[in-house]
Amino acid sequence: MKVFVTGGAGFIGSNFVYHLLGLPAAYSVVNYDALTYAGNLLNLERVASQQNYSFVRGNICDAAAVCAAMQGCDAVVHFAAESHVDRSIYEPAPIIETNVRGTLVLLQAARELKISRFVHVSTDEVYGDIPHGLASDENYPLQPNSPYSASKAASDMLVRSFVRTYGFPGIITRASNNYGPYQFPEKFIPLMIANALDNKPLPIYGDGLQERDWLHVEDHCRALALVLERGREGEVYNVGAGNTEPNLSMVRRILRVLGKPESLMTRVADRPGHDRRYALESSKITRELGWSPGMDLEQGIRQTINWYRSNGAWLQHVREGDYREYYDKYYTHRDKTMKTVTA
Ligand code: NAD
Ligand code: DAU
Repeated sequence: MKVFVTGGAGFIGSNFVYHLLGLPAAYSVVNYDALTYAGNLLNLERVASQQNYSFVRGNICDAAAVCAAMQGCDAVVHFAAESHVDRSIYEPAPIIETNVRGTLVLLQAARELKISRFVHVSTDEVYGDIPHGLASDENYPLQPNSPYSASKAASDMLVRSFVRTYGFPGIITRASNNYGPYQFPEKFIPLMIANALDNKPLPIYGDGLQERDWLHVEDHCRALALVLERGREGEVYNVGAGNTEPNLSMVRRILRVLGKPESLMTRVADRPGHDRRYALESSKITRELGWSPGMDLEQGIRQTINWYRSNGAWLQHVREGDYREYYDKYYTHRDKTMKTVTA
């Protein structure tokens, strides 16, 4: 099966390309990626010269380029997105353009080319804050609270509309917070690891008691491959590990593993509109496709820390590479707005 992967040079996308090409079934991959600041071909060095892998640099909003690159593919797995909540708060327009219009362009191309399967990789953030004692299943109302989650909910609705209106073979997955190798160090876990390794302050938003359900990226990729192979068309599948824990506990865990002092933790102003808690009910994918998470959280964090420790050159490259100017603009804004809070 020839799979058109969008955003395959990003964090989850690159892990997925490795996972798919490592399976016994005969898959080939066309990786279509614009290489924004978050996309990096260093992530794919181990498959770059394989015959069953090719790379096309392109924007998902460019309909002609998408159609040309998708020609001859059997399935689409769609990761490409602006994925960072804080950036979406800072500048919403590019997020809507890529995540909403880009998804529409892909759906239209896939429909025109009679693609037999379209897996849309979405997020638990579309359900918004989940009160304590509850977990969101696939029928939970969509209540997105940031421009990013609103854009993902909108793209989910576009997929749903194509399924209903055109009989399109779309499937939506909604995963919780991923962690693991190749994650850009703007996200919580890699940022905390990178700063702690450099003995820099670790910025904790607000009271640090917000909860996220941490899913190892390999567990997520395994779930996505099962959905690609056997998921039911028109369905939504939640993918969560059941590892819901407050941010403060996660930072303490990282500091403990690294042997660094808790004095590195620094309270900063909270993210506007910050969701307090995500918790997913994922029994549907277990029941229907036999998926369950395999990675223990402590073991996964240790493995991730080791990866960042051993890949200092990668970390330096993504922070100081071609997108330095863009990166600096965002962090200058962030430093201005996220003042240290004294308790
Ligand atoms: P990422 O930011 O690491 O990677 C995004 C990739 O998309 C990059 O390679 C980037 O170059 C590419 N891209 C961005 N805009 C593009 C465009 N206009 N055209 C073509 N390529 C473009 O993101 P990630 O964390 O790997 O997330 C991948 C997907 O999974 C996203 O759709 C995200 O919403 C979803 N998701 C992420 C998480 C998480 O915890 N990271 C959890 C659930 C769902
Ligand atoms: O839940 C899935 C989502 O997880 C994905 O859809 C998004 O693409 C992904 O970015 C992630 O969103 P979050 O906003 O939950 O992740 P982030 O890593 O930005 O933040 C995790 C938590 O840590 C959140 O409560 C905010 C907090 N945080 C984050 C940063 C970057 C801090 O306290 N300090 C920080 O510096």
